[in-house]
Amino acid sequence: MTRVVKVSGDNLGRVVEEAGEVIRGGGLVVFPTETVYGLGADAYNVEAVRKIFLVKGRPPDNPLIVHIDSLEMFERVVRDPPDHLYKYVGRLWPGPFTIVYYRGDIPDVVSAGLETVAVRMPAHPVAQALIKYSQVPIAAPSANISGRPSPTSPEHVIQDLFGRVDMILDAGETLYGVESTVIDFTTDPPRLLRPGPLTVEELSDALGVEIEVPEYVRNRIEVGDPRSPGMKYRHYAPDASMVLVEYRGDLYQMVERVISVYREVSIHGRVGILATDETIEYYMGLDAELASLGSRSDLYTVAKNLYKMLRWMDGKGVDYLIVEGFEDRGLGLTIMNRLRRAAERYV
Ligand code: TXA
Ligand code: MG
Repeated sequence: MTRVVKVSGDNLGRVVEEAGEVIRGGGLVVFPTETVYGLGADAYNVEAVRKIFLVKGRPPDNPLIVHIDSLEMFERVVRDPPDHLYKYVGRLWPGPFTIVYYRGDIPDVVSAGLETVAVRMPAHPVAQALIKYSQVPIAAPSANISGRPSPTSPEHVIQDLFGRVDMILDAGETLYGVESTVIDFTTDPPRLLRPGPLTVEELSDALGVEIEVPEYVRNRIEVGDPRSPGMKYRHYAPDASMVLVEYRGDLYQMVERVISVYREVSIHGRVGILATDETIEYYMGLDAELASLGSRSDLYTVAKNLYKMLRWMDGKGVDYLIVEGFEDRGLGLTIMNRLRRAAERYV
């Protein structure tokens, strides 16, 4: 049985006390963070962590992020953190930022056998309170069935996981709508493993260090790097067959390519087009489900809408989904990283 509980300022203490007991008892609790919803279990409980992999259908070689609420927990879950790492996390936590460092006292199932562990201190008050009441670090991937778009609202979680978890904490839509930035600090310079809501440019400035952006961050799924095992799988994908139309510096040229893909695939099935405020009017005459991700001048909104709109289009039952691309810079890099992993075809 899954209990879905709405959390508000009034009942927060009572709800997380109960949810904390579920975690300590080896159960699974879905909780909100400022990025996406997480599927949490006691990071020290090997059986509970195995259940996470089972329930999500997650490949066992894809490691989980450990969520903490204090530097005391940080010191246990990583091994001998150097001073500069304290300085970095001091500047960026709590927030949508995950570090990879050598693994401390966390069991190796969490890290899929790697000698490193991914750690994050979330900023969402419900996530923080849940960790505090559980009194253990919480291992949590995004709360979706493996391969599907990450959940940014309780409805998405219910679609994927109702009946498979003990409790779902409902706190409405998440703030950023894309998963945290992941940076590996075992290398010098530190290396970006997954772009997120905090851009590489912002992070470099805030930390005062250069961050290496490896090629695979911009690549399509054929190219994987064993350092970020999660990145080699098709991800974030809608049920529809998705075509990504890359932006190559000229908006009208991109619109023309969208229309030409539409002409080709609309013979074979129903088509959806995920456009932007600047371009949507060009598609009004086509027989397609149409939606805008937001304005190209406000990529925060585009990122926030991304997974929601991918799921919304599936709800419309389209067979083909054509999605416009963005420039590979700032938050555009994050958005394109997800779109390239969700797409089956690139134009
Ligand atoms: O915003 C987020 O990060 C959300 C919320 C719930 O915190 N969590 C999330 O978890 O997105 P998940 O499991 O969907 O993605 C974790 C990513 C994967 O790409 C995984 O491969 C990578 O982090 N990762 C985890 N541990 C790692 C490690 N030790 N070394 C390299 N990559 C690691
Ligand atoms: Mg995920």
